[in-house]
Amino acid sequence: MMAQYDHIAEAYNQMRGRIKSYVNTPTLVHVVGNIQGKEVLDAGCGAGYFTRVLAEQNPKKIIGADVSEKMIALARRDSSNIEFFVSNVFDLDLGKQFDVVTSTYLLNYSETEQELGAMCSILSSHLKDGGRLAGITLNPDFKPMKEFQYSRKFSNGKDSFEDGDKVLCELKGDMPFNFTCFYWSKEVYESCFRKAGFSKVQWVEPIISPEGLALGPDHWYNFLENHSPIGFICEK
Ligand SMILES: C[S@@+](CC[C@H](N)C(=O)[O-])C[C@H]1O[C@@H](n2cnc3c(N)ncnc32)[C@H](O)[C@@H]1O
Repeated sequence: MMAQYDHIAEAYNQMRGRIKSYVNTPTLVHVVGNIQGKEVLDAGCGAGYFTRVLAEQNPKKIIGADVSEKMIALARRDSSNIEFFVSNVFDLDLGKQFDVVTSTYLLNYSETEQELGAMCSILSSHLKDGGRLAGITLNPDFKPMKEFQYSRKFSNGKDSFEDGDKVLCELKGDMPFNFTCFYWSKEVYESCFRKAGFSKVQWVEPIISPEGLALGPDHWYNFLENHSPIGFICEK
């Protein structure tokens, strides 16, 4: 069966907006923490953009896994020194525990609370005791967008999101594309994290890099009012 991202792999991989460079990258590096000399699994790595960002932080080893064969083919093409696997996270069984597991926009592909719980448990099972699950997901405080901002519109046709809502994500650019993911509240995320064995859960507001801040406060006003990404750190 084709994965959703098999259809949009090239367009997603070519997307290089300011939110990706100036917000998601510094936020992910912050939540992941010091990974020098550590073993890291990037679950839902897509075409490996953030796997490569993290590889620059000198981990002992970093590997990526994603359900989309096309995304993994692009990841392998663009990062010859990193190991990538095609695997649905629900089937992931690497027979190994890592110091850090990262997931950037993966948890919000869980279609039910049960699936979110299963994803968290599988990621937890790949972590050593004391290890960290860290990443970025769709912000539980996010409100549906009425119009495009920053070349993107995330909406559900209503004024607010509720648990389990399907979110239509539309991206403009040279190669416009759409995809759908799912909204979950902090209560649902935190309950799933705790049931998966995480004792400490922390939400981290997006961090804007100095290059991003140089664009001026007006550029970021709408983003800071209603931002789609949020960082999280869970300690096992
Ligand atoms: C928004 S993309 C993010 C890719 C990458 N982490 C990034 O931030 O550039 C979401 C990725 O999650 C993957 N994904 C969704 N559901 C998955 C699942 N059940 N198992 C593994 N990967 C999954 C998709 O194939 C896609 O590559």
